[in-house]
Amino acid sequence: MTDKPIIDHGLEGVYYTESKIAMIDGHLGRLYYRGYPIETLAQNSSFEEVCYLILYGKLPSMMELDSFNYQLRNSREINPSVLAVMTEMAQKADPMDTLRTAISMLPGYDIDAYDNSNEANMRKSIRLISQVASMTAAIGRIRGGKEYVAPDSSLSHSGNFLYMLNGAKPTENDARVIDIMMILHAEHGSNASTFTTIAAGSTLSDIYAAVTAGIAALKGPLHGGADEAALKMLYAIGEPENTEQYIEDALAGRKKVMGFGHRVYKAYDPRARIIKAFLEELQHSSSEEVKKLTAIELRAEKIMVERLGNQKGIWPNVDFFSGPVYVSVGIPLELFTPLFAASRMVGWCAHMMEYWQDNRLIRPLDYYSGELDLKYVPMSER
Ligand code: SDX
Repeated sequence: MTDKPIIDHGLEGVYYTESKIAMIDGHLGRLYYRGYPIETLAQNSSFEEVCYLILYGKLPSMMELDSFNYQLRNSREINPSVLAVMTEMAQKADPMDTLRTAISMLPGYDIDAYDNSNEANMRKSIRLISQVASMTAAIGRIRGGKEYVAPDSSLSHSGNFLYMLNGAKPTENDARVIDIMMILHAEHGSNASTFTTIAAGSTLSDIYAAVTAGIAALKGPLHGGADEAALKMLYAIGEPENTEQYIEDALAGRKKVMGFGHRVYKAYDPRARIIKAFLEELQHSSSEEVKKLTAIELRAEKIMVERLGNQKGIWPNVDFFSGPVYVSVGIPLELFTPLFAASRMVGWCAHMMEYWQDNRLIRPLDYYSGELDLKYVPMSER
């Protein structure tokens, strides 16, 4: 037996590839997509333009963006056979399981399915970005016992998502809120779901299989599922005056407060800062529920930052402030993580195509510490 090697549990701190898509500075709390600061993109760009930037590595000209938009808008309709399976499944299964299943059906209806050329993969990526948003909205309709709403190609990506979810054209404000939230969730380097996507694709499987694996990974509460868990915590706290005691009890019980902490950010997550800015307005919301959630959230942030921020480098992450924002535009809690998947689809596809340019099968080692050369004991002697 070899000497026990140093084990980087969970691949913490391990560089497994090189990428030009996102730069995350965990100490300064900075995030860049293709060299552009996230703050600049959230303020000036659209989700469609950010998708183009992440996929092609540059901001599009007007003509390029028009052509990209045309492809996105004409890829929104859900195939009736896929919709039938979703209708059957969505009432009973977790929305992320229905979404994962629906995405994995798509190769059966895509002439490019098993063409792994970069051109075909780019076409499939654009279709996936549209399909996953339509499917997320459709799952919301089905679980609400409502009829499917067909897409409206006159609306923006975020506007159409809200239209397909609510059956009514959204206000400009609501569409812009979703647009910014999708920009903020679009890409984040080698997070668990992106790494999972790449690990699956590194076997030279196909992009549908790879992103299906990514959706499976995103579901967990340590990753994309934290946004739902964080809102559930706010409801569990109930009233603003309960906040401090609830957090103290959680920390005393060594419970993880969802929406806080990060494997890479040891500073305030820049995306959380941008989302928190929405809460300044939501404090004066006309909805009592949103006002209360916002008050609880701001108190929870304050005590968590005092207790764990500077001391342990545990700060709010992208999932912490999403709750009241999504509630304010009518997104049901159970669609938070599917909406995260709808945003991150572009990051998964871009990283997968980048990795395939210099593919290397992902196959790390595990250190075996069990017994060896045991004697087989027949059943009669066990
Ligand atoms: C996302 O990787 C990405 O980029 C992900 C993401 C993306 O865009 O793709 O940014 C999206 O997934 C954000 C993270 C969402 N998850 C959560 O909010 C779940 C709650 N957070 C924790 O589970 C945790 O912070 C992780 C999983 C996010 C990261 O944890 P690590 O790096 O594995 O750190 P750890 O669990 O080993 O914690 C180190 C210490 C521990 O204390 P000690 O045992 O050393 O005393 O910090 C404590 C932890 O108990 N800690 C927390 C905490 N997170 C860490 N204590 C209380 N509440 C927390 N949230």
